[in-house]
Amino acid sequence: MLDSIVELLNKHDFKIVMATGTAAIPAWMARRYPQVMRTGVDGTHQIFGGRHNFCPSSPKFRSAARALASRVAQRYTGEKNLVCWHVNNEYGNGGGYCYCDTCAQEFRHWLERKYGSVEALNRAWCMNFWSHTIHDWSDVVPPVTYGDGIGTDKCVISGLQVDYRRFQNEQMLACYTIERDAIREFDTETPITTNLMGTFKDLDYFSWGREMDVVSWDNYPGMDTQPSFTAMCHDLMRGVGGGKPFMLMEQTPNQQNWFPYCKVKRPGEVGKLSWQAVAHGADTVQFFQLKQSIGGCERFHGAVIGHDNSDRSRTYREVRALGSDLQDRAKQLMGSRVKARVAVMFDWENYWSLEGCVGPTQGLHYPDEVHRFYRPFWKRNVAVDMIESTADVDVLKQYDIVVAPTLIMVKPGVADNLEEYVRSGGRLVTGYMSGIHNEFDLVIPGGYPGPLRELCGLWVEEIDAIAPDATIDVNLGGEEAGDHADGTIVASIIELEGAQTLATYGGDDFYAGTAAATVHEVGDGKAYFIGTALDDAGMSALIDPIIDESGVPTIDAPENVEVMRRYADDGTVFTIVTNTGDEATEWTDEQGVLHQLNPFAVLVLTNE
Ligand code: GLA
Repeated sequence: MLDSIVELLNKHDFKIVMATGTAAIPAWMARRYPQVMRTGVDGTHQIFGGRHNFCPSSPKFRSAARALASRVAQRYTGEKNLVCWHVNNEYGNGGGYCYCDTCAQEFRHWLERKYGSVEALNRAWCMNFWSHTIHDWSDVVPPVTYGDGIGTDKCVISGLQVDYRRFQNEQMLACYTIERDAIREFDTETPITTNLMGTFKDLDYFSWGREMDVVSWDNYPGMDTQPSFTAMCHDLMRGVGGGKPFMLMEQTPNQQNWFPYCKVKRPGEVGKLSWQAVAHGADTVQFFQLKQSIGGCERFHGAVIGHDNSDRSRTYREVRALGSDLQDRAKQLMGSRVKARVAVMFDWENYWSLEGCVGPTQGLHYPDEVHRFYRPFWKRNVAVDMIESTADVDVLKQYDIVVAPTLIMVKPGVADNLEEYVRSGGRLVTGYMSGIHNEFDLVIPGGYPGPLRELCGLWVEEIDAIAPDATIDVNLGGEEAGDHADGTIVASIIELEGAQTLATYGGDDFYAGTAAATVHEVGDGKAYFIGTALDDAGMSALIDPIIDESGVPTIDAPENVEVMRRYADDGTVFTIVTNTGDEATEWTDEQGVLHQLNPFAVLVLTNE
């Protein structure tokens, strides 16, 4: 069957991204080898059904997946239109981690290699808490809900939670590399990828990016996803790939089916979303799915060819038009790069550490907090690179501004790098919930923000939680009267140790009048600390002057209009303008030319 499909695609000159087909376990395999199926956090062992739910440690799954990848590679390597290999599918999506006995055993070996002795493990995890001290490796139990797990995200022993996530990430990544290496035995050239999912929590995508020839990802914004959040996800995926162009592996040409409510895409919207990806560094634009299924739970998912089975639909026509627009530009655009002078840190272990906290609030969702700091840059069309917190100091020094939102886990070397970066003239922006844990997820004693305390010139003595329906007033004028903004989620109660106040808490609480945001001059640079999760206007009010002072170029445009640039080796500069909103607007370019922008309009300008 696959042969005939490949033949048809070749005949019509379709490029082929060939998948290995290992993401859904067939019935016969689940029946014959039940151990290939995953065991959930509540101990339920999966039976046949669903997908993405194999045990990543299962030797049987691994060998069978390897064999299938190998057979597919053997058969199709060298195929005329084959341009990329796609291993498995959306690792971890919907399936969660596995907590079976095989994983538990592998986890114990993994810990033994990492810590060497149970005594070291007891120290690293602070196991004297609630008499958890263990005496034998076999005492280690994965963070199941009938053990130390509190739901899927939190755990009595937070080091256990973070280490289990690290371990499962490695197991899943090993499944990828096993298939990748099987393909490489036959095909030494064609790029190999797997489709990632933006800010998906369970896998540390930076570690995946290092194993992939090209990063690809699936973009499925919901009804209320802000365009700046989508932009951040594209930048993150580009960052995971080391800054190289990425592939937009999946998006839907019309509505999704799996949100509670799925709007159809408005005229022009699919073009807007596709070009936004290109603007942020995508070199391909693909869709799930070509043809709409008549059965299964995805039968109401959008497709290029719908249930009408014709080329007359609005969706079909829009995709066709998009295809020819892209075709016109593809040769020039492909390979061109985004250049950024601002970096925002995104770190998966930090994600796990922050959301794994039991207290002081359950209101912190890491990607949203990173986005809160990203958005002021997006609003002014400042290109941003997303980087790991452990980025080398030489990498940091390439940026005028480095932002470290909710950097709760400060891994070895990170504080020194940040200090050197600031001393040498850099601007660091960090804030609430930063500088609390070490790499074992233990609190660094001696006052928050721990290793960042001297750099930031302050002590966060207490962290107040703000109720979901409440806000705290923040006076943006510092000690003078100024504009006001709302703080949310948490308020850091700050004692100054050299920093200057940029904003103060209002209201009448006991810490009214104290610093809510600060700046500390260190060497030739500055460290900014934003003590509470400010609203959109408040974040911009604090970050705009930092951008202005840094000299990073900005581009004026109405709020919903995004202007991004890609730079080709031959000197061509592409300016991609997208009206991300559904209302007509206009934009005056830097030469003073006025452009009318219809809802979701896209303009691609060059310097030629
Ligand atoms: C994911 C999967 C696809 C499909 C889509 C539906 O991205 O990879 O197989 O299920 O979701 O949105």
